[in-house]
Amino acid sequence: MTSHYGFGLVGWGTVGNGVLQLLHDDASLLQERCGLAFDCRAIVTRNLNRSRDQRLRGQAKLSTDLSAILEDDAIKSVIHLVGGTDDAFDIAAACLRAGKHVVTANKALLAERGRELFPLARQHQVAIAFEAAVAGGIPVIASLRDGLVANHIHSLHAILNGTCNYVLTQMEENGLDLNEAVGQAQELGYAESDPALDLNGTDTAHKLAILTRIAFSTVVEFGSFSVEGIQNITADDIASAKRMDCRIKLLAVAARRESGLELRVAPTLVPLDHPLASVPGNYNGVLIDGHAAGPNLLVGQGAGALPTASAVLSDLVGIATGAYQETAGVFSFFEPSEHVPVLAERDELTASYARFTV
Ligand code: HSE
Repeated sequence: MTSHYGFGLVGWGTVGNGVLQLLHDDASLLQERCGLAFDCRAIVTRNLNRSRDQRLRGQAKLSTDLSAILEDDAIKSVIHLVGGTDDAFDIAAACLRAGKHVVTANKALLAERGRELFPLARQHQVAIAFEAAVAGGIPVIASLRDGLVANHIHSLHAILNGTCNYVLTQMEENGLDLNEAVGQAQELGYAESDPALDLNGTDTAHKLAILTRIAFSTVVEFGSFSVEGIQNITADDIASAKRMDCRIKLLAVAARRESGLELRVAPTLVPLDHPLASVPGNYNGVLIDGHAAGPNLLVGQGAGALPTASAVLSDLVGIATGAYQETAGVFSFFEPSEHVPVLAERDELTASYARFTV
């Protein structure tokens, strides 16, 4: 017999629509795999008048008032797809206080205010799951948390922003200028509502801060490492990279050194024969070097409605079946077991590229 699992959705935007679409089109898949039917009981959104495919809503109540979710005892988990760190924090905190698990895709919220949210979750004995917050459809959180749990991680080198990777690919392959390519990324649903957060490296830095906490069991404060974006990359830079048999990628780097952690986000010349050089378009790539498993490369779509919805639903299923709570307990997201200092930029030894017009 199939049991029913009630959840609520806050935020019916690109990803929320992807979640509803996957559940609408493929409900029987999840039912067969985990024996549960997922019922969306309430959707809370800021704007009721926005045009949406109402068939996807099914029986869910549509409201602008969060109490539609908080007061429904049959809602066990809340899919939280709200951007920013203010209202998004209040909404997540209210759900946790009401004893509901939270599945979020909001990386800024976790990187900047996770320290406040996770203790709240523990206090109310509920979980915060966040696979969708990093690298879209790639199960990178589960890989670090579960698959690589027996490894000391030496380093992470990653492309974590689908918009920037799409923009750099379009500039290189189709000669688009940066603004044209950003416009396309917005239309395709990859970019943040403020695409400056993609371009200036902030979004990548949020994701790096989250991955670093899990990979190195240490707390890394957002803002404690250097972040540079791609907003000043020109067609000339792309052409110069090509002459050096390289490609420019916005890389997030976390590497364990004897005296601490080397951390940075920067546009980087990646040699064409390096596996991350061939990660195209809106794809992300995460190269994780563990002491036992050695290097592991994960590649997949890092942005977009369905890839991100896939990650959201993996968390919802994990929570509903109890699997998430079992494995999430092995690492404590905001109570680090180690205090590893972040190395100052001057203590890092890296090569740099400078181009002069003479
Ligand atoms: N704007 C983000 C990106 C969305 O382009 O990667 C996924 O986090």
